[in-house]
Amino acid sequence: MCGIVGYTGKRNAAPLIVEGLKCLEYRGYDSFGLAVMESGDGSAGHEDAAGKPTVIKKQGRISDAGSDVSVACGNIGIGHTRWATHGVPSDVNAHPHTDCSGDIAVVHNGIIENYAELKKVLIAEGHVFKSETDTEVIAHLLEKFCNTADADGLIGDEKIDFAVKNLMNTLEGSFALLILIRGFNGLIAIKRFSPLVLGIGDDELFASSDMTPILEHTQKILFLEDNDYAYLTPDGIRVFGYPSGEAVEREVKTVDWDVESAKKGGYEYFMEKEIFEQPAVFVNSFRQKIDDGAISVLKKASSITVVACGSSYHAGLIFRYLMEKYCKIPVRVEIASEFLNFTIAKGTAVIAVTQSGETADTLAALRHAKANGCPVFAVTNVLGSSVTRIADYVLYTRAGPEISVAATKSFTAQCAVLLRIVSLIGKGIFEKELFEIYPVLEETLLFDPADASAVCKDAENIFYVGRGVYYPISLEGALKMKEITYIHAEGCAAGELKHGPFSLLTPKTPVVAVCTKDDAYPVMISNIKEMKARGAPVIAIGSSGDKDLKEIADIFIPLPRSENICEVISATIILQMIAYNTAVLLGRDVDKPRNLAKSVTVI
Ligand code: M6R
Repeated sequence: MCGIVGYTGKRNAAPLIVEGLKCLEYRGYDSFGLAVMESGDGSAGHEDAAGKPTVIKKQGRISDAGSDVSVACGNIGIGHTRWATHGVPSDVNAHPHTDCSGDIAVVHNGIIENYAELKKVLIAEGHVFKSETDTEVIAHLLEKFCNTADADGLIGDEKIDFAVKNLMNTLEGSFALLILIRGFNGLIAIKRFSPLVLGIGDDELFASSDMTPILEHTQKILFLEDNDYAYLTPDGIRVFGYPSGEAVEREVKTVDWDVESAKKGGYEYFMEKEIFEQPAVFVNSFRQKIDDGAISVLKKASSITVVACGSSYHAGLIFRYLMEKYCKIPVRVEIASEFLNFTIAKGTAVIAVTQSGETADTLAALRHAKANGCPVFAVTNVLGSSVTRIADYVLYTRAGPEISVAATKSFTAQCAVLLRIVSLIGKGIFEKELFEIYPVLEETLLFDPADASAVCKDAENIFYVGRGVYYPISLEGALKMKEITYIHAEGCAAGELKHGPFSLLTPKTPVVAVCTKDDAYPVMISNIKEMKARGAPVIAIGSSGDKDLKEIADIFIPLPRSENICEVISATIILQMIAYNTAVLLGRDVDKPRNLAKSVTVI
């Protein structure tokens, strides 16, 4: 996730872009940059913009930048605050990216999935690349298409239309783009699967990843749809649909949100916003290409050990159940802080799972594995983080920055990457189901947690139970509940309750049971009956249309109708929503629970 912002009007663009980027810093903050250019006399539409864009870009946070970044002159500008996905955070990898001539400047939020193939072709055609990013191909493609348009005698709108349509035809992946082209008197905005909104002021126009930078200047917001492209010029905004190229009308809404709620996309807390980002985050994380070399090392390993902490440890446990079942490779999962106590079998590959890439215990465990001669892997969300410098192979989750201390989207993104490994080693198992999971997760988010939260909020202890892969999901559900509500919650393998915890069950101890129609279903039903017999109220999450479970449970939460593997992710999201809603009912500081830090860099 990155933030992009654009301006065209009569004012000097640079200070407005800088202020806009500060509002978008929650979307990424490892580097920033802007490009501005001066329009001509504004009379003729496309041929009158003067000069090349001036580009300033740097590693670091825009909020720490000096006043020198605002000095560039020009009344048309674009800016970017970055959360690196391709290419480490550095001055050269910061956006905007330019073509060979420097006449075209581009800022991008999203991922270009086919950039490696495109880059190869462009280099063979003589284009010179400066950065390691996926985005730079966009600038060079535009250069190529503009040159073709020039050679064909196309000018003005026709030339720009030609370049934009060919660009949209060529790119695969997700992108919100803002583009400056020398000679075009305004901004070009393009949207596919990444957010982009436009603002309409008095004699000035704005573009941004969200409304926060715009609201200070105007409340009139135009929401672009996927595959829209728009020209923002002194004549106003013109929006077109791809591939038809026909002009389309998009409603302009008056929005009266304050800046803080706009940053959270209208959600009350970042945690809620991050829960709702999961359909896109999961799909982006699962669909990415994974290095064949990495997969072949894992395939050849005699066993795999995962080292991780907290939620990341739970993602490792889910991986274990699925890998062992479908790929028959033995997997051990260790809490990173305990790993140094154990021996590592010869031929073991070790995977560190860590959102931040900075958790001290996980780094120590991975260093220990490396010192013992194991091939070491990292699954992380942060490009260039410490773990990426230790690992031989790095697999990235595509969650974007997670602001809330409680892991939600980063957890499901870890599951996505780990499931992708299972799928690649397991000859395509789950591939079709998980490529198509998006609508299932969207439907999951329609769940109303009110009834379940009403039961949980008054409890002092809550048990979470499941079997098989739903055991780690129960652990994760309990962790979410305890860390943000401060209610004691314990995840248990459903079969274990009768070996001790049964003595704690009373009518005041709710049990959250995850019980879908998988192999463990019959025995889970017996376990739930045993818990009911001890007087515990049961909140059961199960497969759609399960009449038996509905009958037994006090509250039955049906998952959307889908394949077993998709139910695993849906159930996780339901548990997050129950914990979140309970914390809100209790008035907790949801994004910053007491005593916790997002990244634990001490042992
Ligand atoms: O950054 P990491 O994934 O290494 O962090 C590990 C844990 O600290 C983390 O998952 C923690 O348990 C979550 N914030 C819980 O929601």
